[in-house]
Formats: sequence, structure tokens, C-alpha cells
Amino acid sequence: MNENHKCCAGPEWAEYLHTAVLPSVTRGVDLGRDLIEVGPGPGASTEWLHDRVQRLVAIELDPHAAAALTIRFAGTNVEVVNEDATALSFPDGTFDSAGCFTMLHHLPTAGRQNRLLAEVLRVLRPGGVLIGSDSLHSVELHHFHEGDTYNPIEPATLLIRMQALGYEEITLSVGHAMTFAAHKPR
Ligand SMILES: C[S@@+](CC[C@H](N)C(=O)[O-])C[C@H]1O[C@@H](n2cnc3c(N)ncnc32)[C@H](O)[C@@H]1O
Repeated sequence: MNENHKCCAGPEWAEYLHTAVLPSVTRGVDLGRDLIEVGPGPGASTEWLHDRVQRLVAIELDPHAAAALTIRFAGTNVEVVNEDATALSFPDGTFDSAGCFTMLHHLPTAGRQNRLLAEVLRVLRPGGVLIGSDSLHSVELHHFHEGDTYNPIEPATLLIRMQALGYEEITLSVGHAMTFAAHKPR
């Protein structure tokens, strides 16, 4: 990620996720015991989520971010894995829930975004839930991502894509950003 993303490690970003995003997207959602988080970055979402499950597996593509996250969460219930979330090494049905925050727009093509969503669906147990959020397209964010991948998803297409991939009971909320919850069929 480019230098602008250093703010994702700061307290303001964590405060935003912890107050404006995570409480609402998890309301009424059973996260179960085992949660997989894809694209945790510096760990603001991980920090909030790991207290709410017994085990959190964080899948981070960037080796430096993964190493920093490993140090940050040493001795906790967080296991950091440095791999590509579009090709997960876990068997089908391993997790009760999945989290995907502010990262889908970092996948360069719709095909890779779909591949990630399909992989998450595969590793969820039947009845498991994916929760997540992403920013909406803006010129400001386009400039923010200069020299970096910026492939924002139009919310209506995300809904259709998740449905086509096999998710059900999909809820999508669009405001300042978009949040979503989608289930694997039982
Ligand atoms: C903008 S950060 C979001 C961090 C955090 N979820 C948050 O909301 O603060 C996006 C993260 O996704 C990671 N990422 C991008 N593509 C990925 C992939 N295919 N598999 C796993 N992680 C990926 C990036 O390395 C980066 O750390």
C-alpha cells in the first residue's frame, strides 16, 4: 500500500472502525468460535474482533504487515498467516465467520475480488457468515491511492456478485461507506 495508508495504523482510523463500522455490522450476528479475517493490515479491525471469538486467523498478503501483526498479537488468540486470501490454505468449512474490512478495493480486478469472496465462502462452515465493509468510490480516494491499487466496488454489483457466488441472506448497507453481511447456505 502507498504511504497514505499509514493512517490505517492510527487511532482515528481504529476509532472509526470500532464505533461506526464494527458494532453495526456485527449487530445480531453470531460470530461463533473461529473467525478468519482477510486483509487485516495493521490490525485495527483485528483488535476489536479478536475479543469476540475464541480464535481469529488473520490472512495478510504483505509479508511486512504480517510480521508486524504477528508481533502485535503475540500471546493472544490471533494467528497470523502470510498468504493470499484468493487462494486460502484452509480446508472447506473451517470457520464460523469471516471478516473483510476496507480491503476489497485493493484487489486489482473484479475476478480477483470474486475469487476472494469464493474462497471465503469455501472455508466458512454451512450457516457461517461473512461481515465486511469497504469505502465507496470517490475522486478523493482515487487520489489517495495514487501509485497503489484502487478498484472500488459499486455496491449493487457486490450484492449481485455475492448472490451469484452462492451467498444467501445478504444484507448491504450503503451510507458514508458500505457494510455487508452474507451467509453460507446451511
Ligand atoms: C487498506 S488495508 C485494510 C486493513 C484493515 N482491514 C482495516 O480496515 O483497517 C488492506 C489490506 O489488505 C491486504 N491485502 C490486499 N490483498 C490481499 C490478499 N489478496 N490477501 C490478503 N490480504 C490482502 C493488504 O496487504 C492490506 O494490508
